[in-house]
Amino acid sequence: MFKSIQWKLVSIYILLILLAMEVVGVYLVQSIEKYHVNKLSDELDIKAQLMSDMVERYLHPVVRKQDIDDQVKWWQQSWPEINYIAILDESAGVITSTDDTRFRKGDKLLTPEITQATFGNKALDIRQDTRSKIRYMFLAYPVKNGSRVVGIIYLVSSMENIYKTIGDIKAILLVATLLALMVTGVLGYLLSKTITGPIQEVTRNAALLAQGNFDHKIKVRSDDEIGKLTGMFNFLTTRLKETLEEISDEKEKMEAILINMADGVIALNSKGEVIHINPAARRMLFLNNDPTGQDFKPVLRDLFKINLEEFLGEDVISREISVKNKDTVMKSIIAPLKRESRIIGVILVLQDITRQANLENMRKEFVANVSHELRTPLTTIKSYAETLLDGAMDEPAIARQFIGVINNEAERMTRLVNDLLELSRLDNKEMRWNKRIISPSAVLKDVISKMMVNINKKHLALDTNISDGSQDIFADRDKIEQVFQNILSNAIKYTPEGGRIFISQDNAGDMVRTVFGDTGIGIPKEDQPRLFERFYRVDKTRSRELGGTGLGLSIAKEIVEAHNGSIAIESEPGMGTRVTILLPAASALATPNM
Ligand SMILES: Nc1ncnc2c1ncn2[C@@H]1O[C@H](COP(=O)(O)OP(=O)(O)OP(=O)(O)O)[C@@H](O)[C@H]1O
Ligand SMILES: [Mg+2]
Repeated sequence: MFKSIQWKLVSIYILLILLAMEVVGVYLVQSIEKYHVNKLSDELDIKAQLMSDMVERYLHPVVRKQDIDDQVKWWQQSWPEINYIAILDESAGVITSTDDTRFRKGDKLLTPEITQATFGNKALDIRQDTRSKIRYMFLAYPVKNGSRVVGIIYLVSSMENIYKTIGDIKAILLVATLLALMVTGVLGYLLSKTITGPIQEVTRNAALLAQGNFDHKIKVRSDDEIGKLTGMFNFLTTRLKETLEEISDEKEKMEAILINMADGVIALNSKGEVIHINPAARRMLFLNNDPTGQDFKPVLRDLFKINLEEFLGEDVISREISVKNKDTVMKSIIAPLKRESRIIGVILVLQDITRQANLENMRKEFVANVSHELRTPLTTIKSYAETLLDGAMDEPAIARQFIGVINNEAERMTRLVNDLLELSRLDNKEMRWNKRIISPSAVLKDVISKMMVNINKKHLALDTNISDGSQDIFADRDKIEQVFQNILSNAIKYTPEGGRIFISQDNAGDMVRTVFGDTGIGIPKEDQPRLFERFYRVDKTRSRELGGTGLGLSIAKEIVEAHNGSIAIESEPGMGTRVTILLPAASALATPNM
């Protein structure tokens, strides 16, 4: 507390006042003392001179003692302030005095001032009585006749009054000093508070600022240096707040970008510890826990097959690496992380290219499938044609049979090419839809009657349950017919003779539900998820023998989905299969899309 500026200021004020009062006091006391001493000595002098004129005639030529006695008594009564009067002869012997008990007549009084007076000089001295401690003024005044000393007047006056007055003055000064000190102390305290108050407030606010509280402003109370300091501090607070807000805004923006971006970002420091990793990167690397702060070098080595050190040297440029982690294929760009042209770590950007890789694989598989599907009938056509050319043509029965085969294979190829063209149009959204309001039950009944020949051929039983009240749909009739026909032909194809097919149609909320069930061979569980893939067939040879290419279901799915519907297959191997198609009712479509 006593180290504070406030206390220092108060102490300085008090010391200054003390010094001033002391100087003034000493000067004042000395002046007053001098004045009173001079006044007393002048008074004694005048009186001694007066006495000397009177007493001279009683001393010369003979001493008229009685007269002197009377005279001295009279003086004593008139001047009570003189404590002691003695008339001495020229050799300092007491002739008479106001106090016989002090010196008897005839005693020699040889004080230094009296000795001086015997030589004709008046002498004054001030001495303190050793017993009573009272100070006295002693005046020895020579009485002269011409230049001859005929006697000495010796006056002693107490200076008690003077010193009492001085003592009073000192006491007053002391009280005044104490009062002045008190007033100074209080005023100094208040004054210094006006200086230190704002400083303390600035200090308090600086502490708040350090805790991150920027909303407190200090009131500027004056226009002086402290006022300016306060103003400047407020300005500083505002600037600091703005700057911090800008920084945190930027940080939030960066964070939002990093969190939401599809690419993974990992930043490592020069020791290989993770300093930042975004959710996409954690997802791609299957990291459940936040690896921030952990050593990432083993992952770099095992997964990315690189050493961190390779990227910490000068002149290192970024490098692209393809990585496969479980089922995820990633393209990763690894680059040195620089700050002020100094390499402080490594940054990895990961791109999930699993989908592209899968698509690429599918494309390759598709091309292989198409080639294979085309080559098989072509080989057959070629071999039959060659056999015909080699002479089989001459046998009309065989030639006819062979040409029939060639025709069948050509038809198969045409079907395949048509299917592919259709898929390609669906993929490229180039299909020209001829959508209108149609009755799905009418379409279904049409399809059944067309396929009836095939059903009968295989001696299959058919159950139908087609509701007449099914809602109209907004659809391309030919395409929906194609879907129904595809599914029904599958049911016929994959159901052995004597089996049963059942077909139903009804409303399911806003949808029209069409179900094709059979008691056929069914589909193994592991194949079910892939049924809608192009060229996917459970049993390739068997399907091919049955004339299938594995495109039917994928085309059906594309068409149904283009009508905002859905298709699902449930199957139990050996028990049968059930295909459900849902198509939205026309009334449920807000704006039918053409
Ligand atoms: N009702 C069903 N019962 C058993 N398996 C089926 C049934 N429907 C489809 N499959 C299986 O699904 C595969 C794919 O069917 P999809 O209709 O796409 O091809 P496909 O019938 O072989 O040939 P396409 O229809 O192009 O002539 C079939 O090869 C078959 O293995
Ligand atoms: Mg089919």
